[in-house]
Amino acid sequence: MTQELTTATVTEEHTGPRTGWWRDAVIYQVYVRSFADGDGDGIGDLPGIRARLPHLKDLGADAVWLTPFYLSPQADGGYDVADYRTVDPLFGSLSDADDLVREAHRLGLRVIVDIVPNHTSDQHPWFRAALAGGPERARYLFRPGKGADGGLPPNDWESVFGGPAWTRAPDGDWYLHLFAPEQPDLDWDHPEVRAEFDSVLRFWLDLGVDGFRIDVAHGMVKAAGLPDIGASEQAKLIGSQVLPFFDQDGVHEIHRGWRALLDSYDGERIAVAEAWAPSPERLALYVRPDELHQAFNFQFLTCDWDAERMRETVDASLAATGAVGAPTTWVLSNHDVVRHVTRYGGGERGLRRARAAALFTLALPGSAYLYQGEELGLPEVTDLPDELRQDPAFHRAAGQDGFRDGCRVPIPWTADGPSYGFGEAAPWLPQPDSWRGLSVASQSGDPHSTLELYREALALRRELPGLGDGTMDWLPAPRGVLAFTRPGFVCTLNTLGHEVQLPLPGRPLLTSGAVEFDGTSTLLPAESAVWWAI
Ligand code: GLC
Repeated sequence: MTQELTTATVTEEHTGPRTGWWRDAVIYQVYVRSFADGDGDGIGDLPGIRARLPHLKDLGADAVWLTPFYLSPQADGGYDVADYRTVDPLFGSLSDADDLVREAHRLGLRVIVDIVPNHTSDQHPWFRAALAGGPERARYLFRPGKGADGGLPPNDWESVFGGPAWTRAPDGDWYLHLFAPEQPDLDWDHPEVRAEFDSVLRFWLDLGVDGFRIDVAHGMVKAAGLPDIGASEQAKLIGSQVLPFFDQDGVHEIHRGWRALLDSYDGERIAVAEAWAPSPERLALYVRPDELHQAFNFQFLTCDWDAERMRETVDASLAATGAVGAPTTWVLSNHDVVRHVTRYGGGERGLRRARAAALFTLALPGSAYLYQGEELGLPEVTDLPDELRQDPAFHRAAGQDGFRDGCRVPIPWTADGPSYGFGEAAPWLPQPDSWRGLSVASQSGDPHSTLELYREALALRRELPGLGDGTMDWLPAPRGVLAFTRPGFVCTLNTLGHEVQLPLPGRPLLTSGAVEFDGTSTLLPAESAVWWAI
């Protein structure tokens, strides 16, 4: 690295004198290897992202969250980190990271980076030293096996990616990995593990990042004695019950320590937890005033297209975080789940519902996370050839489905070129031909496009004082329709496959429907959301 790094903070000149910026921020997730390829190797990188930041600015995002770009053998798309303070050459250099942060700040965008504290890569110097019998072994969870000669795993835990959560080391002991065998779990009882992550957080805060997305924030602490679960297909239990390896109360002490560290910096640095908790109430524990700022609310993401269920989910989410004074987050897609256009049924119907869900969630109180490409209405790619798939879960039985590559296909920027503007070379995963018409260039300026719908929604969200943080009230509505009001504003969502008669609440501002909705009719279009000024 040639360039000297100095702290780059967001100043009021960039963002205005807001406090609590994160309470209603729109945060755009960039999956680094699939956003923009600056050096023509078919894989996205930091210079590529930097060059495309104006897209986020034009969209109206407040911040960008970057998935891991640290040195990594890429056994799990970079969530297997071999050096937390180095940028993988695949994605650029540390000075590229510094440039990216500075450029984002210049554009008024904050930058959140991913931190992976539950496990390292098996190529991390600590783990290599651990395998060689060094004292670093105590920083991981090595245990003797059961049965004759210790040939059976120490307990019945299964990896989230399928198969046993234990792999036998050459010396006969087993080590725990809740994810792939290339991702050994750290032992957070060890003081050096804690000290190391404090230091890693400081490293990136000093470089100027505005916060962290904490990977598997519910996983660092394991129940004492590592007790058996006594059930199989454990991946299916995640998020519905407390397991001895997830959502243990001990994780909160770690988060409290990190909050104090974040608060010791200027400029409101934040942390958002990726925590799969069994209930909104348990999720809210992660965002108590002295813990993390936000937690991803996956309840809406996993909710069916059903008005009653959606309303219950919104109520439960707001009540739980409201009880601890934290904002709720709304998430429809990310790099681990099937894109919501496809979850909602795919095709025109899926897109119709996805557009409606976007307007609905963007009008709710709290912060919103957008996953790259959702503003283009991209569907999941379901027909990738097996030999191109890289999700480590793909070849492991009985874990998560292993089809996460389908939401990670590089996004289209232009209607032509070898990768629709993603880069100069063929992309690491092939893009469907139909994506030509879904590119940023193809949709820009088309008032009916999904991209312009998102742009307009985010612009209105900034403009209207009643949106963002605050409260909401439900309004009476026919079955299958949801309506809620916020100061000066109403949002309606018709989940049904047909029009619904409704006394119109005000002047229409924006509709998710593909056709112009002039507001003179008293019929709400099928599967659409409308924003109203009142
Ligand atoms: C998180 C990430 C996912 C990764 C896993 C293991 O769930 O979002 O992509 O595979 O953690 O680090």
